[in-house]
Amino acid sequence: MRAIEITRFGAPEVLQPVERPEPVPAAGELLIAVQASGVNRPDVLQRKGLYPSPPGASDLPGLEVAGIVAGGAPAELAAAGLAVGDAVCALVAGGGYAERCAAPIGQCLPLPAGLTMVEAASLPETFFTVWQNVFEIARLQPGETLLVHGGSSGIGVAAIQMAKALGSRVIVTAGSDEKCAACVALGADHAINYRTQDFA
Ligand SMILES: NC(=O)c1ccc[n+]([C@@H]2O[C@H](COP(=O)([O-])OP(=O)(O)OC[C@H]3O[C@@H](n4cnc5c(N)ncnc54)[C@H](OP(=O)(O)O)[C@@H]3O)[C@@H](O)[C@H]2O)c1
Repeated sequence: MRAIEITRFGAPEVLQPVERPEPVPAAGELLIAVQASGVNRPDVLQRKGLYPSPPGASDLPGLEVAGIVAGGAPAELAAAGLAVGDAVCALVAGGGYAERCAAPIGQCLPLPAGLTMVEAASLPETFFTVWQNVFEIARLQPGETLLVHGGSSGIGVAAIQMAKALGSRVIVTAGSDEKCAACVALGADHAINYRTQDFA
């Protein structure tokens, strides 16, 4: 398969297309024929040599993908309500920048109706993370206020949009007026440039 490899640590030019063997899904994993892969800050840090892949994970970058289920143990797929040919997006520990990627079945989500592969590939890292932390754990309610530090980060822009969609008030902090304006354009009710104002 074709994959994008970090040939050495450095600038974006160190990312190069290479041929790699297809990953073999382990127990509890399925194989995805990747159509889109998200780009996140950890990919950049990994490329610079500041974020080693976890033990046992692919050394290829890419932590979220969308594509078509291309393999896996039939019984395990069936138990998860999945089958070869289904469209999914998935959170992975590495290996997303490739034509085939192994993913834990429990970290796969059927492609949401109406989303393209590119859109769905942007869900797992940020939208899943915000969903779990802000809504499942913190249980933000409509009408409550959410303070988002780093409002223009990947996590921040997801948090703004999700909290506004669910009827909460959103206040963000960010490191420049331009970033604050971008947060307001995304729906934030109020944005504070923490370099020029005391948010407390
Ligand atoms: N599954 C998970 O648990 C999970 C998943 C994703 C992310 N995260 C965590 O969530 C946080 C945000 O992640 P992200 O991917 O959304 O980050 P990101 O897009 O890279 O944004 C990071 C933000 O941090 C601020 N920042 C301050 N100092 C910085 C520096 N030296 N270099 C770069 N940015 C700096 C910047 O905003 P200002 O200029 O406004 O300060 C920037 O927008 C991270 O701590 C990450 O580890 C956790």
